[in-house]
This record gives sequence, C-alpha cells and structure tokens, in this order.
Amino acid sequence: MSKRKKNGITALADEIIEQCDARHPADQLLRQALKNEKEMLPRHKAAVVERVYTYFRWKGCLDAERTLNRQVRMARELDADFLSYAGKIKSEVLRKVVPEWTAETMKVTREWLCQIQRPVTLWLRAPKASGKRVELAMKKELQPAGEGCWRNTFRYFGKEDLFQMSHFQHGHFEIQDLASQFVGNFCQPEPGENWWDMCAGEGGKTVHLADLLQQKGCVWATDRAAWRLQRLKRRAARAKIFNYQSAPWDGKSKPPFRKPFDGILLDAPCSGLGTWQRNPNARWTTTFEDVKELTELQFKLLESAVARLKPGGKLVYSVCTLTKQETTRVMRRFEKAFPEMEPWTWDGTKPAVPEVCELDFGKPVHGYTVQPDQWKSNGMFVARWRRRKKA
Ligand SMILES: C[S@@+](CC[C@H](N)C(=O)[O-])C[C@H]1O[C@@H](n2cnc3c(N)ncnc32)[C@H](O)[C@@H]1O
Repeated sequence: MSKRKKNGITALADEIIEQCDARHPADQLLRQALKNEKEMLPRHKAAVVERVYTYFRWKGCLDAERTLNRQVRMARELDADFLSYAGKIKSEVLRKVVPEWTAETMKVTREWLCQIQRPVTLWLRAPKASGKRVELAMKKELQPAGEGCWRNTFRYFGKEDLFQMSHFQHGHFEIQDLASQFVGNFCQPEPGENWWDMCAGEGGKTVHLADLLQQKGCVWATDRAAWRLQRLKRRAARAKIFNYQSAPWDGKSKPPFRKPFDGILLDAPCSGLGTWQRNPNARWTTTFEDVKELTELQFKLLESAVARLKPGGKLVYSVCTLTKQETTRVMRRFEKAFPEMEPWTWDGTKPAVPEVCELDFGKPVHGYTVQPDQWKSNGMFVARWRRRKKA
C-alpha cells in the first residue's frame, strides 16, 4: 500500500474515532463516511473499519495521554497477542476492555471478555421458501445451525460482502444474529395468529415472525422512530413479506391498533451490553444511569402490552443486554405486578437451542439468557408468559 493511501486510511479512521459519541455511533459514522468514498478500494475500506474497531475494543487499556496514533499502535499489539493466544493477556488487562461499572450489573467472566474481543460471527437466516436454494448456492461457506426451527439458519464462513450478493438483494437470506433469531423462534407464533411487534425498529424480528406465520396471520409493527419503519418496509419488500402492517408509536400514547393480539413481542430498548462485541464503541458511551432509566421504560412498555393481550395471549420480552436490572429484575417485578400473566415454559419438544451451540435448556424454562461465549452471538435475555384464560 502506498504511503499516501495509508495516510488517507489513517486520517479517515482517526476522524471517525474523534467524532464518535453516544449520538454518533461508530457504525453509523463509518457507513456514512465510506459511502462518500466512491474511489476507495474495498480492502482499504476494511482497513478503516479495522482501525476504528480495534481502537475501541482496547480503549480501556490504552494510555489516553498518548497520541491517538500511539494508542492505536498499542491496541493493535494487544489485539495481535490476544488473537495469537488469548492466554497471553492477563486478567487485570482484559478486565479493562469494559468499564468498571459493568461489574455492578452482571457477572463479568473471562469467557465473556474474551468473546467480545474476538471477530464477530456472521449468521444468516433464509426464509422457509429459499433455505435449500441458499444452502446449495453457498454450500462451502455455510454451516447449518440445526434442525426444526433452526433448519434455515447458517453460520457464514466466507469472505464475500454479503450485502452485495444477488441472493441477499433478492431476499433469499437475511443477515441476522443467532440471538435475534432465537427471539423469533422463542415466540413460537402459529399460522393464523395476529402479533404485535411493539419496538420493531428496522424489522429484523418482524420479518422473521411474519415468515414463521407462513403468510397466514399478521404482524403489526410499531416503533418510535419513523425512519426505522421506513427501513423495515424496504427490508420486508426485499424478503417478499406482505403479512404485516406498520405505524409509528411513541410508547406513551394510545397504540395505533384497537384489536387485542394473540401474541406480543416487546424487543425493548436497552443498554445493549449484549452487542458490545459488534459495537465496541458503545462500551464507552453507555452509562450505569442509562441502565437505571431503561428499566423504567421497559416496565412501562410491558404494562402497555398486557392491556392488549387476548385471554391466553402470549407475551415475549427480549433485551440484547446482560444487566440483572434489565433482565431478571424486570421479569420478577413484572410477575409480581401482573398475576394475570403466567409463565409460558418452553415445552422441550422442539430444539430450542441450535445444535451448533451444543447446549440444552436442561429443564423447561420461561426466561433464558443467551451467553455470547456459548452461542457465538450477541448476548440476549428472553422471557415469556401467557395471559391466564380466567382471572
Ligand atoms: C432493540 S431495538 C429494536 C430492534 C428490532 N426489534 C429488530 O429486531 O430489528 C429497540 C427499538 O425501540 C425503539 N424505541 C425506543 N424507545 C421507544 C419507545 N418509548 N416507544 C417505542 N419504541 C421505542 C427504538 O427506536 C428501537 O428501534
């Protein structure tokens, strides 16, 4: 690589590192900046991304008094040592890859810390109709996740830019993390049911639920951010999903739909600790205060959900975080406040955990934590209940 090219890459990456804050996450800044670099080669774009993320992965171990260039060099050395043999990194160093307050909210294990320093695993999900086609076309680069509801889930080992593939552009597969796919499967929607996806965002789970309904039944998708719902529409069109409706909803006003639902998914706004492998910059912008505030919002959204459930209706709560405040504590508070809701345990007849993880629930569960080091995925907490048929 010429010196000029190298300087261009370094300058662009460092500009992004300096602009990054809670309102301007690295992935968003990178997407915008790289879109404008029409002449830049893909491998040079990859080098920009690598510099930015390596810095944020190791930021807590770096000397902030040094120049940014020096810090990045240090981060790269740590990264190389870690990737050659994770045991080279002492526990007291590794502990600094996440902020100190994390220990007040969850059990910080070496396994978790190592996992979030590793390259991200890519997972795909093909709609029922195109699973076989995708598997045949990309056979060498795919590892199937399992049977049953995991039949069309694959780990991707290839090096191609998946967004540019014609199979992706024609909606033959979605890029969707394994933990997010688990949420859709844990909802167990039955064809013909009506579901409400309360915080649908860009529609990852809406599209999955709609597919599981096999075009029989409907998913009503709401979100506070109208721009996210626009992306949801593009995603649904690509996946050729039509059994959904969408409307903005701020979580406070009356929901835009009158009908009671057979099922509701609350994929709630959360502190996102479960995504710290994918978004290492978020480790340095999320605070313990955020965690406390979010638990109130999560509980309020759960309250709104209960009011909209049919007798016997199913409620699924998910958060891509691992803090006890937003997971087990919200679950316990909810169960105390709403005796009309009963735990809806996984019956164990279908493979709930993908075979590729070599895990099992062991016993029937209605609340479960997806551990990133066991699943090679985001961290996620999911709980589910049913509204009792009689009060
Ligand atoms: C975890 S994300 C949802 C991801 C989405 N379900 C998916 O699978 O792609 C949480 C979503 O909650 C939305 N949100 C945040 N506060 C909200 C509120 N008060 N009412 C409704 N939606 C809200 C955010 O805009 C965000 O899209």
